[in-house]
Amino acid sequence: MRKPVALLSVLVLAPLGTWAGTVPPPRPAQLGLCAACHGADGHARIPGAPNLAGQSSAYLLQALRAYRSGQRDVAVMRAAAGPLTARDMQALARWYSAQSPCKPPQAGSP
Ligand code: HEC
Repeated sequence: MRKPVALLSVLVLAPLGTWAGTVPPPRPAQLGLCAACHGADGHARIPGAPNLAGQSSAYLLQALRAYRSGQRDVAVMRAAAGPLTARDMQALARWYSAQSPCKPPQAGSP
């Protein structure tokens, strides 16, 4: 008697998980363009590149649009955002937003 109930709760709860954004977004096809500097997980790999993990996806999307239009005039990011379609930018913003944020440096760590 218990199994049908468990199955039912999966069927009911799975779409809720999607709705709440708890299901990780698919890995974007263009992630390789960004990973060298920002990491595939949004933890920056080079000095000067910001961590993107856990940042609001609306903010990331807006930043990408601003680089592409030249409103934020940074050559490396303008070049990186140039070939992206609107869909790519949404996928990347969602991906980075869903990554676990970087831990702040521990007080007293070397
Ligand atoms: C060559 C290194 C490099 C590559 C490749 C690169 N970025 Fe960046 N990115 C940077 C740097 C440096 C900055 C900081 C620019 C600034 O000062 O505004 C930045 C800033 C950003 C920001 C703004 C973050 C904030 O906090 O405002 C976003 C979003 C971003 N990058 C996304 C991407 C995405 C998505 C890709 C791949 C399509 C990508 N970047 C590729 C170096 C890079």
